[in-house]
Amino acid sequence: MKIRKHNGLTFDDVLLLPKRSPVRSRNDVETSTRLTPSINMHIPVASANMDTVTEAKMAIAMAQAGGIGMIHRFMTSEQQVKEVRKVKRARGFIVERPRSTAPEATIAEAMKSMEQHGVGGLVVLDEWQRLVGLVTERDVMLAPADLTHVHQVMTPTERLITAPRHIAPADAQKLLYEHRLEKLPLIDDQGELVGLITGRDLIKSRKNPHATVDDKGRLRVGAAIGVSEIEMTRVEALLAAGADVLVLDIAHGHADHCIDMVTTIRQAFPAAQIIAGNIATREGAKELAEAGASAIKVGIGPGSICTTRIVTGFGVPQLTAIIDGAEGIAEAGKNIPIIADGGIKTSGDMVKALAAGAESVMIGSLFAGSEESPGSPVIRDGQKFKVVRGMASLGAAIGRKEAEREGDESAESAEDWDKVIPEGVEAVVPYRGHVRETLHQLVGGLRSGLSYGGAHTIAELQENAEFIKITAAGVRESHSHDVKRI
Ligand code: XMP
Repeated sequence: MKIRKHNGLTFDDVLLLPKRSPVRSRNDVETSTRLTPSINMHIPVASANMDTVTEAKMAIAMAQAGGIGMIHRFMTSEQQVKEVRKVKRARGFIVERPRSTAPEATIAEAMKSMEQHGVGGLVVLDEWQRLVGLVTERDVMLAPADLTHVHQVMTPTERLITAPRHIAPADAQKLLYEHRLEKLPLIDDQGELVGLITGRDLIKSRKNPHATVDDKGRLRVGAAIGVSEIEMTRVEALLAAGADVLVLDIAHGHADHCIDMVTTIRQAFPAAQIIAGNIATREGAKELAEAGASAIKVGIGPGSICTTRIVTGFGVPQLTAIIDGAEGIAEAGKNIPIIADGGIKTSGDMVKALAAGAESVMIGSLFAGSEESPGSPVIRDGQKFKVVRGMASLGAAIGRKEAEREGDESAESAEDWDKVIPEGVEAVVPYRGHVRETLHQLVGGLRSGLSYGGAHTIAELQENAEFIKITAAGVRESHSHDVKRI
């Protein structure tokens, strides 16, 4: 038995010492960071892979704002792939597989397809999948009643303006403007359709210049996976669908099967970005880094809905866990980032996590009340709330079983639930409107924090960081006190 001499510390145990600052305005600081060695983000925030936090809608909003969303894994791999595809299709100046129709299709069919897929036009492909034209909403809406089929109203290929596959966004914009076009089909050397650029997508990318995007201008997205061997099928499907990063989702990541899974994925997909965790010790970080992780997720039990520490007695206060994790990565001789996962209640907590060595934070409950989180708000005592639940809570376990059991009456009965040992709780959080508003507050706090830390960047904040331990009286003094809040 060993006992550590030093106390484990968490966010509320410390404050950062203000430093002489060269920063004259909060606008002079840079909040960009890396999620993994090959994924940069404008803001250091990821939404958690929890079923009450991140599906496609949240992931789209997160990436548009410059962060990233991690799609949870408590659905079939087909459903998860669909969620990933929704994000990859939400924006991007090139649509790789544009929605299509056939020249013999009726106008009514084309209209239905546009409506169903929420697009303003369809490429028209012949039976050999060659481009023969383009039909837009305007073509079908304004067509005289005697025209009934797509080939009668489409713009045929010979009158279409097309562009080569690798056209730069600025050149595409010029072509769209000069010819007053909305859609620009991209053609390869053989004349085959390889994509489509739309004016709407180009405008969207200009609206969110700091969005987290891949090299095709599509929003980036992460997806969670389990650790069993059969999960390799999910991994393959997610990567094929365009998932930018895989999040190994396991409560105790410093485990043989987690390390093996990192090794297996690394061997099968050398370029894959793998976030491994969760861990809370130097050894855990070191071994996952050595196994080939691209980033390490730190946090055993700090989350607002977590009861792991109470149920098992294990965990490390989050600030100490981050500091130890960073040491472990350095010991492994790797230069990969830490994601601080759980327990972020305020922008100040995020600043402390970053100052301690994390390069981004993962947030669950604080985002669960957003418009973009799965599920609808509930009204309690006249106020709007949304539900959040730990992924190891009883409610989450029941939800998963119910999904599996759909249509299988012989499956486990409800009485079996008293055998579950939950390590998380279910709760409600206030409805907070769009996640962009919460992010605005968090990033505003970070900008101020950088300025107090005498830092223009997160890296400088880490270099300058000096923590001071505080007492319960210090914590009390830090919050608004001796006034009646209105
Ligand atoms: P916050 O504090 O942002 O934390 O809500 C989100 C993180 O909590 C973890 N998580 C759990 N931990 N039991 C746990 O011990 C659970 O049931 C549970 N569900 C989520 C997870 O790391 C998440 O990102």
